[in-house]
Amino acid sequence: MFYLFLSKVFKGFDLFKSTLIANSCSFFPQIWFRALGKNCRFQGFPRFGYAFRDIRVGNNCSFGVGIFLNCGADGYINIGNFVSLNDYTYISSLYGVEIGDNSRIAEFVSIRDNDHAYADPETLIRNQGFQGAKIKIGSDVWIGRGVFIGKGVEIGNGAVIGANSVVTKSIPPFAVAVGAPAKVIKYRQKNSTESILQCLEVT
Ligand SMILES: CC(C)(COP(=O)(O)OP(=O)(O)OC[C@H]1O[C@@H](n2cnc3c(N)ncnc32)[C@H](O)[C@@H]1OP(=O)(O)O)[C@@H](O)C(=O)NCCC(=O)NCCS
Repeated sequence: MFYLFLSKVFKGFDLFKSTLIANSCSFFPQIWFRALGKNCRFQGFPRFGYAFRDIRVGNNCSFGVGIFLNCGADGYINIGNFVSLNDYTYISSLYGVEIGDNSRIAEFVSIRDNDHAYADPETLIRNQGFQGAKIKIGSDVWIGRGVFIGKGVEIGNGAVIGANSVVTKSIPPFAVAVGAPAKVIKYRQKNSTESILQCLEVT
């Protein structure tokens, strides 16, 4: 009984947080999101590296807990419509990160469009700045849990990236890629036998 009561109280609190974030654009324009679409759901308050950065989110997106959006002054993060970002996803942008409509990002995914520059062995790495390039994730892409996506990578529409993969090169549309470094193992396609059986059932 007591737990039921507590769960209701906390559910109410979550709803309050979610509403606060969802309406932060109207209440506090451009502090956290430059644009935030309608009907976005937040299970936890995302953390932001900096306020007033170019972070845009479309309609009907969902955010898990522990999400970190770290956008530099010249970077941007564009998230389309119906995108889900699961727990502890980390996006760091100094150049630009784009995620297309309907894409699914599982938990513990790290998307970073920049690396420490490290070429000079006589200078501390922390003093060498960063280098990188824009990342573009297409529409209807499914990124498995624990994946790392590095600088300059483009993931084509409809691609699937297996759990714990390290994506350092671009992946073509509708490919299924796995491993470290991620390699294409197959392409999505309808099972032809299944399609024939379905046709027979219909007729
Ligand atoms: C990529 C994935 C979708 C492929 O599933 P599938 O189409 O059923 O493919 P299979 O399991 O038949 O695997 C095909 C081959 O790739 C290998 N493989 C599959 N996933 C792999 C991964 N993440 N890393 C390395 N190899 C992988 C398999 O071992 C198999 O190798 P083999 O041909 O030598 O036996 C699935 O393995 C995966 O990683 N799913 C992500 C799950 C997840 O993160 N869910 C989060 C919830 S949103």
